[in-house]
Amino acid sequence: MVETVSMNGGNGPNSYTQNSKSQEEGSTRAKALLAKSIQENLEIQNNSRVFSIADLGCSVGPNTFSCVQTIMQAVQLKLKNCGPDLEEPEFHVFFNDNVTNDFNTLFKALPPERQYMAAGVPGSFHGRLFPKASMNFMHSSFALNWLAKVPKEVTQEYSSAWNKGRVSYVLSSREVMNAYAAQFSSDIEAFFSARSMELAGDGLLVVIMPCRAEGTLPSESTILDVLECL
Ligand SMILES: C[S@@+](CC[C@H](N)C(=O)[O-])C[C@H]1O[C@@H](n2cnc3c(N)ncnc32)[C@H](O)[C@@H]1O
Repeated sequence: MVETVSMNGGNGPNSYTQNSKSQEEGSTRAKALLAKSIQENLEIQNNSRVFSIADLGCSVGPNTFSCVQTIMQAVQLKLKNCGPDLEEPEFHVFFNDNVTNDFNTLFKALPPERQYMAAGVPGSFHGRLFPKASMNFMHSSFALNWLAKVPKEVTQEYSSAWNKGRVSYVLSSREVMNAYAAQFSSDIEAFFSARSMELAGDGLLVVIMPCRAEGTLPSESTILDVLECL
């Protein structure tokens, strides 16, 4: 079995629930863009009875619930703008994360007033999770930056890309950075390949993730600089 790591579950002081403010701030900042992209790009079919939404790398909440709320509100507004004859579909929301995620905490925290049916989908988003052409809207925030695995060569002492036991590459050699970049490149390709199968023809995918400006060094990124302390 592939080894996976997850955020701390439960609601205690070290849980993700209590320690995800920066991700919450990021998603709040992206809210307007998310809503705008739905108004501008989502095509609503007249005959859709079910509108399927997935949050990939949802963790245990609460951020996933506010993201889903933003998506639902924007889709409902879009439906309203399409005219009074359009019947509102039922919403089905799929919460995905690695199998080791604390899904029990997530399920217990589901908003009681939600206007959607909820389901948990365990498994890696680097592979297929849903049937072909079944999803209308897929979203992922602060999760795609996670690699599927540590590149082998950074852990091998005899390799030119050995990272000397460190968990960050900010101040590492070019070979180490290249090894991480190659892993990301293969992961993102696997992610897009799976989503391209799962999204309906008129479906949308929105990804929110921390990035560096093109042409800048890892050491110029505040987030990566913090990781260097580990
Ligand atoms: C920092 S949390 C973000 C949670 C939430 N999206 C948010 O914005 O608060 C990243 C989540 O991605 C999940 N994750 C990482 N790699 C994954 C993968 N390959 N498949 C599914 N989930 C993954 C982790 O388990 C973790 O729960």
